[in-house]
Amino acid sequence: MFWRWAGSQQSKSHEAMTNSSVVTLERHIVEEERNRPEATGAFSNILLSITLAAKIISREVNKAGIVDLLGGTGDTNVQGERVQKLDLYAQDVIYRAMDHTGALCCMVSEESEDILPIPEQFPKGKYVLIFDPLDGSSNIDVNVSIGTIFSVHRKITDGEDGTVEDCLQAGCKQVAAGYVLYGSSTMLVYTSGQGVHGFTLDPSIGEFLLSHRDLVIPDPPSRMYSINEAYYPRWSRGQQRLMQHLKGLDGEGTVSYSSRYIGSLVADFHRTLLKGGIFMYPADSKSPHGKLRLLYEAAPMAMICEQAGGRASDGGTRILDLIPEAIHQRTPLYIGSSEIVAMAEDFLAEDV
Ligand code: AHG
Ligand code: MN
Ligand code: MN
Repeated sequence: MFWRWAGSQQSKSHEAMTNSSVVTLERHIVEEERNRPEATGAFSNILLSITLAAKIISREVNKAGIVDLLGGTGDTNVQGERVQKLDLYAQDVIYRAMDHTGALCCMVSEESEDILPIPEQFPKGKYVLIFDPLDGSSNIDVNVSIGTIFSVHRKITDGEDGTVEDCLQAGCKQVAAGYVLYGSSTMLVYTSGQGVHGFTLDPSIGEFLLSHRDLVIPDPPSRMYSINEAYYPRWSRGQQRLMQHLKGLDGEGTVSYSSRYIGSLVADFHRTLLKGGIFMYPADSKSPHGKLRLLYEAAPMAMICEQAGGRASDGGTRILDLIPEAIHQRTPLYIGSSEIVAMAEDFLAEDV
């Protein structure tokens, strides 16, 4: 009897093993590349190099608290060496993970005024990487989730070196976009135009494992809005009326929303992607173009959102249709469930 039971257990575990195939990010990228006969591998190279940088930044972000403690002993060397601004540290890690790949012609980082050239000694490639090395910096020292956001474009100018023109392309031209969320777990979410896929880092093996295949914003969405309400007095009339509506204060029905605001775009957007709802960072009387940057915050998130069935605009124009005029230009951002973003645009239309 026992042997029959043991045999059946063995076949079950074998079956379980073959069915629960563990898909690493590497395997996923290789399989995606196989579906693209024109692929040269350069694009896969970029994504794999980004994951290396993400693992290093994740390790440092998770140690940041400890180092601050050590730094408290007055050991200036550790503090000086180690606790350099995490934004600049993250930029440095990404730059050095990418500069020798031969896949890029230049880079743009939130932390650098001008475009970052590829060092002379390395070959140049046909892609541009644009990134926010550390998003949500104000949350670093209070141990709240932060992230990295990236966007990939194809080079469009002649010659080897990347130019500003290669970087100032509309978001609809992106070949890929993604983010890393350094939260209770480290996740990498990306799209290359074939749907949105989420990978969770298993620190015990140092691999990003597929945990969210083909992410789609839920419909019906959860009624959640995400915005920094402290700026209410600075908003347009339409924005203020929209907020009255979301709070059920305009007598138009008792649609009850709840509010969530973390203050890290990556974390607020990730929740909106998984649960539905709307994230808003409007223009206001002090920041007429809003705060968030088009190239490395709004556009990559907009590509991901649309690939997941959502909608992203500046309150009137589709984010992916905006043509950038400067690499650090700002834009208002309304992103999330299509029906809720469209409703927000209706309220803002009265401002026009
Ligand atoms: P970063 O840390 O890259 O400068 O980005 C911070 C951004 C974004 O992450 C977040 O949504 C927004 O700033 C929060 O702004 P407020 O503090 O004005 O709400
Ligand atoms: Mn940011
Ligand atoms: Mn940043």
